[in-house]
Amino acid sequence: MIHQLAVFGHPVAHSKSPLIHQAFASQVGLNVSYAKIDAPVSAFEHQARDFVAAGGRGFNITVPHKYAAFQLADELSSQAQHAQAVNTITVLPDGRLRGDNTDGAGLVTDLHNNLGWTLAARRILVLGAGGAVRGVLLNLLATEPRVLHVWNRTSATATSLSAHFGEPLLAVSTEALESSYDVVINGTSAGLDGRVPAIPASVIGPQTRCYDMVYSNTTTSFNAWCLTHGAAATSDGLGMLVEQAALAFSLWFERQVKTQPVIQLLRALT
Ligand code: ATR
Repeated sequence: MIHQLAVFGHPVAHSKSPLIHQAFASQVGLNVSYAKIDAPVSAFEHQARDFVAAGGRGFNITVPHKYAAFQLADELSSQAQHAQAVNTITVLPDGRLRGDNTDGAGLVTDLHNNLGWTLAARRILVLGAGGAVRGVLLNLLATEPRVLHVWNRTSATATSLSAHFGEPLLAVSTEALESSYDVVINGTSAGLDGRVPAIPASVIGPQTRCYDMVYSNTTTSFNAWCLTHGAAATSDGLGMLVEQAALAFSLWFERQVKTQPVIQLLRALT
């Protein structure tokens, strides 16, 4: 039996998800077909329903459809509810669609298990307040940081996140940023244009670890900026990508997979 899976995005040609899920499937001896489906915004719901009607087992959702997938789902995990974004849909035995968001758990798993960075009782700064950040805040809060500051170029969006999630999450203005956070996570899309969020370099100290949620085959502009200002360590988001996929795979098949070999495979290919 071939399990039909897919990722919906627009654009989606660059997606590594087929490669990742094929690698997981071969680890556990499952036969999967994983398609990339380029769906313009107006066609997403229709194409997603067609995929399910044709026997789809589940699918992933990437930019710009995570909110539409949230609306499409018949039931939601608490992560998806808080994020108002769904990156994984599972077709339940009765045909209803369950929406999850594995991005936050993927990020925290990468930080803890792959990088060995501690979050509990630490001072964390998150940059950005868009969909990517909303998707990870519940899981970051669950690690019980001492401080969880969210800074955004448009401060009102960060303020509404702090109203939604509550303490210890706090929206901070540029002036209120503290010095030398333990971990700084970039969840803005500034790097897509090679830019870095306009924040003072004092947020970086000699013990600061910097994580860029995007991945790249070269050092990202944000990580280069952190290194210039003396950060202790940096990582891009490749591990998060593979970990969120492993969690999606386990939702579909209830099988645990090894992520390290897949991270290494992708690193070698990029
Ligand atoms: P995503 O799904 O990738 O999160 P998004 O919801 O459009 O996309 O959010 C993009 C985030 O990157 C926002 O926080 C945005 O800040 P604004 O709310 O002020 O728009 C942030 N961002 C994009 N370009 C940026 C830049 N050059 N500097 C700082 N932040 C930037």
